[in-house]
Amino acid sequence: MMRIQTLFPLFTAALLTACEDGDGASGSTPSQPYTDFFSALPTEAIHPADNPFNQQKFELGEALFWDPILSGDQNVACASCHHPNFGWADGRALSIGVDGKGLGPDRTGTKATPKHAPTIMNVAFTGLDAGESTEGFLATGYFWDLRADSLEQQALEPIKNQIEMRGVRFTEQQILPEIVNRLSGIPEYVDMFSHAFPAEIISADNISQEHIAKALATFQREVFSPNSRFDEFIAGNDAALTSQEITGLNKFINGGCARCHSGPLLADNVLREDQIVINFEAVRTPSLRNISQTAPYMHLGDSSTLNNAIGLYEDRGDLQVTMEDDDVGDLAAFLRSLDSENFYQEIPTRVPSGLKVGGNI
Ligand code: HEC
Ligand code: HEC
Repeated sequence: MMRIQTLFPLFTAALLTACEDGDGASGSTPSQPYTDFFSALPTEAIHPADNPFNQQKFELGEALFWDPILSGDQNVACASCHHPNFGWADGRALSIGVDGKGLGPDRTGTKATPKHAPTIMNVAFTGLDAGESTEGFLATGYFWDLRADSLEQQALEPIKNQIEMRGVRFTEQQILPEIVNRLSGIPEYVDMFSHAFPAEIISADNISQEHIAKALATFQREVFSPNSRFDEFIAGNDAALTSQEITGLNKFINGGCARCHSGPLLADNVLREDQIVINFEAVRTPSLRNISQTAPYMHLGDSSTLNNAIGLYEDRGDLQVTMEDDDVGDLAAFLRSLDSENFYQEIPTRVPSGLKVGGNI
């Protein structure tokens, strides 16, 4: 049993409800007001007003995402580290960029990123709270330390990053003008940009960094994983989860996990500067969606299995819960009910530059 030594005020109502049926906090009866903590994942992406969706922009973003032309030495693409075979992450503890070869755990090279690559799945919903309206919602807070406010802002950072994509041939100041130049020299890309941004008259002379960022952001927003069994359950179908999964869900709430892992992504995306959660560094709460596909875990990727990641919460002072008996198994079973195969996972067969799709993978 998971012992609860402290009741967080937020959870009192839930606990009372849970106990009314005599089943207690760890029972398998679906009696919690689950929608106080969680929501089903939206079944449509949310695009901001200043970068609306259109199909051509999505296709341009997809091409750019897979095209190593965005890297200094034309050998790394976004997809080298965010690949559908690994739940749009890379299956590695730390990522290898410009001097790498191979995909996922097989990728070799000498320079690794300081942090683990999170998935790009569901980034359209980053920061969405339980019950919050998607109308006018502005997703915000990217990277483990939340240093990028929007996906548009995030998109150019890996290109400028020496280890990830830039390499040493270009300086941080040179690289983006260089990329714009390269793209402007490929008629197929110029054509794609002009269709993606129909309100602007685009030619080879005025493709900009901003257009690149907007297209990448639009593509990524469409990569999301709705209609998991958990989503069905939240929508009212009690039979969608097994009794062990419901037990795990109840433990997740009553044990205090949902204090941070809440909303449709099971992540409040908050950086707790005052509270070192795991691994001696303050990082934001990550999404727990499609968790089976995105091992290893934590911001250093040093937790190789889901059970191991959950086990790290044993005897934590701030949580005041103890992992005993079946707790880890129940929690893991619940978290796997968030898995969904309903996400975009196409791998293009060519990119407009003619370079290798996905880079040197
Ligand atoms: C060499 C591997 C690598 C490449 C190439 C790469 N990324 Fe990443 N990506 C990472 C790592 C590592 C992080 C986490 C960095 C951090 O938080 O400090 C990350 C974080 C992100 C995030 C933040 C997700 C979140 O939930 O906060 C997004 C979005 C993203 N990358 C998109 C891209 C795009 C777009 C490209 C191509 C322009 C790209 N990445 C290229 C490794 C890579
Ligand atoms: C105080 C906020 C907070 C609470 C409470 C909390 N977590 Fe977390 N969780 C985090 C943060 C922050 C991370 C990322 C830590 C890191 O990367 O080092 C994380 C990471 C995780 C991960 C790994 C996700 C990934 O993709 O890497 C799992 C699994 C997880 N938590 C499960 C749980 C469970 C189960 C509980 C309850 C026993 C719990 N968490 C309670 C904030 C919290």
